[in-house]
Amino acid sequence: AWKRMNKAGKLPPGPTPIPFLGNLLQVRTDATFQSFMKSKLREKYGPVFTVYMGPRPVVVLCGHEAVKEALVDQADEFSGRGELASIERNFQGHGVALANGERWRILRRFSLTILRDFGMGKRSIEERIQEEAGYLLEEFRKTKGAPIDPTFLLSRTVSNVISSVVFGSRFDYEDKQFLNLLRLINESFTEMSTPWAQLYDMYSGVMQYLPGRHNRVYYLIEKLKDFIASRVKINEASFDSQNPRDFIDCFLIKMHQDKNNPRTEFNLKNLVLTTLNLFFAGTETVSSTLRYGFLLLMKHPEVEARIHEEINQVIGPHRLPSVDDRVKMPYTDAVIHEIQRLVDIVPMGVPHNVVRDTQFRGYLLPKGTDVFPLLGSVLKDPKYFRYPDAFYPQHFLDEQGRFKKNEAFVPFSSGKRICLGEAMARMELFLYFTSILQNFSLRSLVPPGDIDINPKLSGFGNIPPTYELCLVAR
Ligand code: HEM
Repeated sequence: AWKRMNKAGKLPPGPTPIPFLGNLLQVRTDATFQSFMKSKLREKYGPVFTVYMGPRPVVVLCGHEAVKEALVDQADEFSGRGELASIERNFQGHGVALANGERWRILRRFSLTILRDFGMGKRSIEERIQEEAGYLLEEFRKTKGAPIDPTFLLSRTVSNVISSVVFGSRFDYEDKQFLNLLRLINESFTEMSTPWAQLYDMYSGVMQYLPGRHNRVYYLIEKLKDFIASRVKINEASFDSQNPRDFIDCFLIKMHQDKNNPRTEFNLKNLVLTTLNLFFAGTETVSSTLRYGFLLLMKHPEVEARIHEEINQVIGPHRLPSVDDRVKMPYTDAVIHEIQRLVDIVPMGVPHNVVRDTQFRGYLLPKGTDVFPLLGSVLKDPKYFRYPDAFYPQHFLDEQGRFKKNEAFVPFSSGKRICLGEAMARMELFLYFTSILQNFSLRSLVPPGDIDINPKLSGFGNIPPTYELCLVAR
């Protein structure tokens, strides 16, 4: 198969693949990102090389320069979405995050407009987050400083922000169905990061016909789809085209307007799957970052202490933190950037694809070639970060303690596919970190030096280790 794909092009160098198995010998399925970075591949072939994930050639981009030259300097060529085999059976190229071509352009423009409009409505996204943070603080107070695993408290609060946009309302924290949905999301993200999923990414051609663990993601995501489809039915039964309540209503209005156009992209499939993209991406990324962030702060109590100080000076103990405080809190802002950099929640990025034959660094990537922009290799690019593997908030501060931007800060990726929820995510991270630390100190059950910050799993995502902490009222 690779000879055919390769015919018209000249792909970057890489290890010689074995027929069908590809580069299984070079790419460890339990540590795919590490095999690209820490093995000899990057050393031997340079920052741009080709790896055969089974029969499929993938061009791997390492470091800030290579990723920027592709995603930003040749933004259009590299704007396609590559194959994510572990969820392709659920999405089949539908929904904004997995779509391509006109379908993607239409769904992306629509989604961005709706997110922005709801943000400017009667209640801004900022107010929604402040309200949700309030509910979370109440839950934290109830723990009275006893140890808890924060996973599902954090995902419930974060998920309610995007839920109120897509479903028009928040869920009660006691709602059993809600907790069940969050378990499905958390498990899918984890499952997509197992060696099984990585192996499936390489050999889906055959494995899709075999029973086994690799099929779990499929069933988990199907359940989430069923839930969204049931919400769409409820909306359909009660909606008023003059008064859209949420993302689903806005999409339904488009569907009705376009109902005589058989080729419209405003159809039920794209509605359900785009809503699922937003709900999923809007939940797990932010809550994993918060969860990982608290662990890093417990490992570095001196950093937490400095945030407490800055909160005391700028916000004080009584008023709600607001987005406007961020520019007055360069230290806290730097710490949040450093958390996102080190946590590196999507280390290999989401696969891209070149939409036409593309010249790149003297190679010719034929239309349809998949590309992995290794975001983790940019976030840890030693040319841009002094101590790439350390937790060092000064990476984002100048000598005077002012916030300092860094162009290699790309947790949301860059170019035309850049995360659609970046603005919402950044607002959430700032407001949650500051509200929680305004009210609580974090206490670890083990001495800071003994805290293990290695991910529990590293595949599609970096999954934070499971831990407990105590939240002590300040
Ligand atoms: C895409 C990261 C939060 C919705 C992405 C991508 C990354 C990413 C790396 C892939 C970009 C690419 O293809 O190159 C993050 C991180 C987040 C976060 C680190 C939080 C810390 C959110 C939130 C939402 C969201 C809150 C929803 C409001 C999406 C969507 C896409 C996407 C819909 C697909 C965009 C497309 O294919 O055009 N995100 N994200 N994300 N994100 Fe996020």
